[in-house]
Parts: sequence; structure tokens; C-alpha cells
Amino acid sequence: MTDLAERLQQLQTDALAELDVAADARAVEGLRASLFGRSGRLTSLLRGLADEDPSDRPTTGKLANAVREALEAAIAERLTGMVEADARARLSGEELDMSAPGRPWRVGHLHPTMTVERDLREIFHAFGFEVFEGPEIETDEMNFEALNIPPDHPSRDLWDTLYVAEASGEPLKPAADGTILRTHTSPVQIRAMRALTPPIRVITPGRCFRYEAVDASHGFEFFQVEGLVVDHDTSLADLKGMLEEFARALYGEATKTRFRPGYYPFTEPSVAFDVSCLVCGGSGCAACGRSGWMTILGAGMVHPTVLRSGGIDPDEFQGYAFGMGLDRITLLRHGIPDLRLLMSPDLRFLEQFPAGR
Ligand code: DAH
Repeated sequence: MTDLAERLQQLQTDALAELDVAADARAVEGLRASLFGRSGRLTSLLRGLADEDPSDRPTTGKLANAVREALEAAIAERLTGMVEADARARLSGEELDMSAPGRPWRVGHLHPTMTVERDLREIFHAFGFEVFEGPEIETDEMNFEALNIPPDHPSRDLWDTLYVAEASGEPLKPAADGTILRTHTSPVQIRAMRALTPPIRVITPGRCFRYEAVDASHGFEFFQVEGLVVDHDTSLADLKGMLEEFARALYGEATKTRFRPGYYPFTEPSVAFDVSCLVCGGSGCAACGRSGWMTILGAGMVHPTVLRSGGIDPDEFQGYAFGMGLDRITLLRHGIPDLRLLMSPDLRFLEQFPAGR
């Protein structure tokens, strides 16, 4: 037996002994690297084969192969055993208790104002209205001029407007292109008329903004639903009948309604639409100022100038429109005393209105 052959056998004995005492998979991997790595102990010995006497080479070569295979197999077997033992140890320490209570899963729900909006969408859907939405950032032209409210006209005072400022410069100046935050959903009437061909029957729900002194009943941010119908031979009687049906669908069959004269620049004639007080039912209380009535929306026949702004010939078509705030409907529905609560992110408040999950 050559010197190299002896050293190969010795290495096998040593390595198997080391493998026996290896504590964990890391130690076994370390041993594997020390044997088979680039300058590993076995690798170095195998290089010596080239220097063997040609007559010894086949025997020593065979032995070298046997040593390599034996070590590889022993290492692989040891590793498998370790992985299994490891898994067994882990599993025996774990327990699966099928009777343990689950982790609570937080389910959110719609904001109460959005529940009202969905209710309105559903009612008007049944009346044949489709939803048409417009942008919250509008132009002065769409929010006012196209709606028959010229610059500097006193009727502008009805809407306290938030102007978008020029990007730079002191003092701040309103944007030259007349960009504003819309003060109502009425500009979407114009967009709908320009986009659709009559007969038009749309509602336009959305968020609006005003420069308001905020208190329990005024917010600078609020929600409206606008309605627009344009058709041949549409009349104030159609508007009245439709709104009466709407009020009964929203507030129940016993609801009484009335029209009062009103003023809006974009309708002629204009009306205020009242329902019997939702708190006292009509007998008079603090909520309705002892009148027995509550105004829930403004409405009227679309002004010819507005039809023209929308690209519609007022000699061929008439229309009616209405607009209402969602926030007050929400407050009344739940008996919430302060509008500001609706915009608060306080979950202790919002979680009280879980309808509409
Ligand atoms: N845009 C009005 C407002 O915000 C509400 C309104 C009144 C809308 C009459 C209409 C309408 O379409 O016909 O005060």
C-alpha cells in the first residue's frame, strides 16, 4: 500500500469520527467544506494521485474514489437524519389547539354619509336615473358662468368659494385659469348635457367645498346629489311628482311635501322642496323652528341659458334639476347633533353606524 493510499484511509477514519461528533447541520456543512472544498483535505490528497507510480495508480485511484463516495454518502445521510430530528423536535414542542378562539378580524363599513348616498343612488336608479360624475376641482366657468351666474353678479354671494392660488407670488392671487373647488354639484349638469344627448336622466353625487365659518351645521367640505332631466315636454308637474315619490321612498309613505317659491340663477322658476318635519312629523318642534316643515332640496326648471351652455336648444327641450345636501340627511337619520363629527376620523364615532357593510 502506498503512502498516499494510507493517508486516504486515515482521512476516511478521521472524517467519519468528526462526523460522529458534529453537533448540528452547520458543523456537518463545515466538515463537508473542509474535505471537498478547493483546498480541502480530500481534494489535496486527490491531487497527489498524479505523482503515484503508474503501477500503483489504478489501485490507489480506486481507493480514492471509494473514500470520496463513502464520505459523501455518510455526510448526506447524517444531514437527512438531522433535518428529520430537527422537525420531530419542533413538532413535539408545538401544539395545535383547534378549540382556541380565532384572532378578531376588523371589518370596516361605509361612512354613514356614503350609506345615504348609496340609498339615494338606489332610489333614483329605480326612477330611471343613471349616475354621471364630475371633478371636484372645477373652473369658474363651469361652476358659475355656464350656470347663468356671471362674474360680479350678486348671486355669487350665495356660494363662498375656495379659489386655487397661483403657484407662486405674494400676496396669493387666484389662479388665472379660474380654477376653484366646486361649491356645488351643479356644474356636472353642464358636463352631462355636453356629453350626453337627450333624453337625459342623471344624478351626480359628489363632494363639494365652500369657504365657510365652520360650526355645528356648516362644513367647508360636504356632499351633494344633483339631479338633471332633459327631455321634450318636461314640466314642473313632472318635477313635483318625481320629488314627492322620492321623499316617500326615502322617508316613508306618510311623508307630506310642499313646494315653496325659491331663487336659483340656474333655474326658472325655482322652488324649495319641503318635507314634513322628520323629528316631530309636522306638529312643530325645535328642529323645524316650530314650522312643522324642513327644506331638503332646491329645484326648478333648467334656465334656457343653462341649456344653451350645455349645447341644448331650449326651443326643442326643457329640463328640470334639483340639488340636495347629504350631510343633513345623515345627521337627521341618526340624530347626530354636530356636522363636524361626520368629517372626524374618530372610529369610536364612526363605528356606531355600521349599516351598509
Ligand atoms: N346648487 C344648489 C346649491 O348648492 C342646489 C340646487 C338648487 C341645485 C336648485 C339645483 C337646483 O340643480 O335646480 O345650493
